[in-house]
Amino acid sequence: MINSKSPVTGPVLGIESSCDETGVAVYQAGRGLLAHRLYSQIKLHALYGGVVPELASRDHVRKLVPLLRQTLDEGGLKVSDLSAVAYTAGPGLIGALLVGASVARSLAWALEIPAIAIHHMEGHLLAPLLEEPAPGGEPLAPPFVALLVSGGHSLLVGVGKIGSYTILGDTLDDAAGEAFDKTAKLMGLPYPGGPALAKIAETGDPKAFKFSRPMTDRPGLDFSFSGLKTQVLLAWQGSDHAEATRANVARGFEEAIVETLAIKCRRALAQTGYRKLVVSGGVGANKRLRAQLAAAGEREGFQTYFPRLAFCTDNGAMIALAGSIRLAAGQTTGPEIRVQPRWDLQALPAVA
Ligand code: KG4
Ligand code: ZN
Repeated sequence: MINSKSPVTGPVLGIESSCDETGVAVYQAGRGLLAHRLYSQIKLHALYGGVVPELASRDHVRKLVPLLRQTLDEGGLKVSDLSAVAYTAGPGLIGALLVGASVARSLAWALEIPAIAIHHMEGHLLAPLLEEPAPGGEPLAPPFVALLVSGGHSLLVGVGKIGSYTILGDTLDDAAGEAFDKTAKLMGLPYPGGPALAKIAETGDPKAFKFSRPMTDRPGLDFSFSGLKTQVLLAWQGSDHAEATRANVARGFEEAIVETLAIKCRRALAQTGYRKLVVSGGVGANKRLRAQLAAAGEREGFQTYFPRLAFCTDNGAMIALAGSIRLAAGQTTGPEIRVQPRWDLQALPAVA
């Protein structure tokens, strides 16, 4: 990271390509989100029941530049209006990340503007800043706790300052989204399983199946979801496989995950003494999780912050926003094209 003394706050292009969504957006401090576009590869991977990394990279190659043009057009912008290009540099699939990084870095070179490597999970963590504060609510500012739950991660993060992150809890095995996806698959639901499982759970009876709330009976903030998946497998295999049973099992599983996450969030708030909770990442789009945490916040006096549903899952807007914050702090990235498939969130520099 380079620290420059003359911060610029013009429009920042954000590019997201860490997995199976191509996202492009432009954000400007003081003006907000100027344009955003998303192309999802879900149909491409559905055939295989999961993301095929090489197909993902190739599709990013095909879609990224046209999407970039459409995004700029939508915002009435030219490339020469841009002050910087931010891109997801990790964590994620190496080939997919390289597509976004190469396009972003090349564009920055050509325009002679800075490039900014963004940590994908920092993007998720800051995504609620894309929203107006709730009426009467305080705008989001540190310190806060963030629950980041996606296909690849289940993290509880203590945020003392923007950029200064402490991992309070992590998953010991499957991430929450991965647990949703694998459980959905074993019950014969289509990919991506999370939203499909949540949808059928709506009609299920919450009392029909009671699954355990893993690791809530001992102190600590880590998660483990693979045993829960096995419990569901056994329950489903031993059932009559009727539609109503599938909905009941799905509901029981969703209740177990949501309650487990909620228990750990409350614990993290108690441990840190913080009174604000951010919930983001793909599983943050789960309606029951949002409702349960919002209700707990009202009851127990902490404020909850969620991105809109479209910005819970992967998108370019959160990357453009994170880039704009880093740019204003004078933090840009060197000239190399470098991605980090694994990247510790705690290694990031604080935003002064
Ligand atoms: O953040 P994201 O788009 O990609 C990663 O960075 O992984 O998260 C995708 C994950 C998938 O596992 C998907 O099944 C899950 O988020 N997801 C949901 C819902 N919407 C997406 N899980 C539960 N309920 C939902 N409504
Ligand atoms: Zn993500």
